[in-house]
Amino acid sequence: AAKPRVFSGIQPTADSFHLGNYLGALREWVTMQDTADAFYCVVDLHAITVAQDPDELRRRTRVSAAQLLALGIDPERSTLFVQSHVPEHAQLSWVLECLTGFGEAGRMTQFKDKSARQEAEHVGVGLFTYPILQAADILLYQTDAVPVGEDQRQHLELTRNLAQRFNSRFGPTFALPTAHIPKDTAKIQDLQDPTAKMSKSVPAGVVELMESPKRSAKKIRSAVTDLEKEIRYDVENKAGISNLLVIYSALTGRSIAELEAAYEGKGYGDLKKDLGEVVVDFVTPFQEQVQGYLDDVAELDKVLRKGAEHAREVGAATLRTVFDRIGF
Ligand code: ADP
Ligand code: NA
Repeated sequence: AAKPRVFSGIQPTADSFHLGNYLGALREWVTMQDTADAFYCVVDLHAITVAQDPDELRRRTRVSAAQLLALGIDPERSTLFVQSHVPEHAQLSWVLECLTGFGEAGRMTQFKDKSARQEAEHVGVGLFTYPILQAADILLYQTDAVPVGEDQRQHLELTRNLAQRFNSRFGPTFALPTAHIPKDTAKIQDLQDPTAKMSKSVPAGVVELMESPKRSAKKIRSAVTDLEKEIRYDVENKAGISNLLVIYSALTGRSIAELEAAYEGKGYGDLKKDLGEVVVDFVTPFQEQVQGYLDDVAELDKVLRKGAEHAREVGAATLRTVFDRIGF
């Protein structure tokens, strides 16, 4: 049987991915290459839903691709590309916008969160229609599974609804994708506010994969915990410690129970110090690899162009069917 098709994307809106991106999604991207025909995309069209400096966007797009390669995305096995290199994303997005209800789009909670952080007159329509572009990204490749963090579940539901709507109105056209959400690490919490997800907006609470490893270790040591002493997984009452255990377990492969036993009688300081070292050991070789890819931008661009060529072949075939079905 053919391998299942996988698609996922990540925005080039920062100089670094963070530990939440990695443990909640990107790690799964790497793993799924073994069993799936994977398409991984740096989504620069999504990035411009908020204002971007052109030179910075260009640089961050390359830094994002270099990070994906360093994490283990293999362009010989997977299709790695940049969204704007494949115009079919925007073309399919328009078709899907015309099938989406205004109220339906308005119920997307991520838009409410993101727009609440900006002045009303600065909120672009693109930020509102963002989940529809995301649906186009996924449906263009006849995707079966989408590896993402928990925060993307609602967008996946919209994608499925749009696919079903198109299929029932115009005839079977799109595969119905399912969210592939990692069980234990789908949500990594902010180190300073462990009741909120780790996200780029609060620097002290976010471990950036590209920041100085020392700085990351310091952030871990300063993580907010609680007034007890016991190192125990209990999200309700010990959100900070639980988050540190989840991160520790994910990066070392040791189970949470094993960690709880190993730290019995030890203090929060011990746990934080050791986890800091685990993080340093992970990011140090990673950063060297990223630098290696950035030292040869011509080669990096070549890899991305090749990925886009293949993505275009697959995406154009879907779009031809779509245009034909709707009467273009
Ligand atoms: P976007 O703005 O496109 O959602 P993000 O950088 O927020 O981009 O997310 C990229 C990927 O990382 C998504 O799959 C998302 O679900 C995942 N992700 C983001 N933050 C976290 C987190 N704190 N824990 C787990 N996964 C996360
Ligand atoms: Na997100």
